[in-house]
Amino acid sequence: MGTNAVNLSKEISCAAACDPERENQLLKMAIAQLKAELAQAKMDMEKTKRPPLVVCEVANLANDKAVIKLANGNLFLVDIHEKLKGKISIKDTVLAEQRSLAVIERLDSGRTCSPEMFLLSKKPTIKWADIGGLEDEIRELKEAIELPLLRPDIFKKVGIEAPKGVLLHGPPGCGKTLLAKALANATNAAFIELVGSELVQKYIGDGAKLVKEIFQLAKEKAPAIIFIDELDAIASERMETGTSGEREVQRTFIQLLSEIDGFKNLEHVKIIGATNRFNALDSALTRPGRLDRLIEIGMPDADARESILKIHTAGMSLKKVSIKKIVEMTGGVSGADIRLICTEAGYFAIRANRTNITQEDFERAVRKVKCAEEPTEYMNMFG
Ligand SMILES: Nc1ncnc2c1ncn2[C@@H]1O[C@H](COP(=O)(O)OP(=O)(O)O)[C@@H](O)[C@H]1O
Ligand SMILES: [Mg+2]
Repeated sequence: MGTNAVNLSKEISCAAACDPERENQLLKMAIAQLKAELAQAKMDMEKTKRPPLVVCEVANLANDKAVIKLANGNLFLVDIHEKLKGKISIKDTVLAEQRSLAVIERLDSGRTCSPEMFLLSKKPTIKWADIGGLEDEIRELKEAIELPLLRPDIFKKVGIEAPKGVLLHGPPGCGKTLLAKALANATNAAFIELVGSELVQKYIGDGAKLVKEIFQLAKEKAPAIIFIDELDAIASERMETGTSGEREVQRTFIQLLSEIDGFKNLEHVKIIGATNRFNALDSALTRPGRLDRLIEIGMPDADARESILKIHTAGMSLKKVSIKKIVEMTGGVSGADIRLICTEAGYFAIRANRTNITQEDFERAVRKVKCAEEPTEYMNMFG
């Protein structure tokens, strides 16, 4: 008898002595409760009797049916339970009934990601020529990452070891991601790209395992480059690791360190990390033998701003625009801001029903983009 029914039965024996009507009422309630408990117990029993379900992967979907792939590789065209129609997609891990193999449940906790997902199959379109300024930084990156992969013999002859990896750091919007993409485009090495924040937000519980598998994949595909953007998301120095989320991030980071330590320079795998928050980074990451080659990607100087402006205005129809003047006006803005200024200038022209962009459009755009950044000063007074 369930606890509710026990409580009720005590009340019933009290009521029996003095109030038969109340006793009747309580008895009815007790019966209803017992019936509910019995039904639940029956359902629980049914569950234990149910034959085990088959774990499989959705290989394809067609007309409300699914092609599922079993662990042994066999494929079956099967029905999908009403409640799941339209809710499952290819590559999902699902549970199928043993006899009919109909898909009856989706396994959310099942792994839906594999290290191959991070291997770039299509090269990015960014070329070195799309990057303004940063000539020295590009050379350094090529020497540290590309050259040792292409010509390991040179390093052997000279007798020096190339670094395992580099860390690109500096303020946001100055070309770190751009550099890594251009390198991916220029090299024939396999390129694996992951984003720190995604590793901890999207692949919860899988971070450390993924890191391990990604390095394994890189070794198989060598020569290979692993690019980890927003590295601070997994490698920030933390005072405490209280929540389980933080512990998970910590585990991912420790796995990353041990993978970096675990391979020798000879294995033709290089790592590029990128972060906007160098100061927040755990110094364990940049110790000798790890990502010990630091390349700072700073705010563009006047020359760099000029080349960035030329790159981003290359496809625009300009009318009597002085690039030099815009360069002067844009001291202290990033490459990303310059791109934004070009877009904004284009919008001012469109709003005025013109297809040519004028100097005035640019100057308004510069003011707009710069203003958008500045109001923080008074906002800080309250924050
Ligand atoms: N040096 C640069 N040359 C040309 N465009 C740039 C440059 N730096 C930034 N940009 C523009 O800003 C965008 C963002 O830059 P990104 O490389 O993502 O910055 P981050 O340093 O934050 O990784 C780029 O896609 C590009 O359009
Ligand atoms: Mg970036």
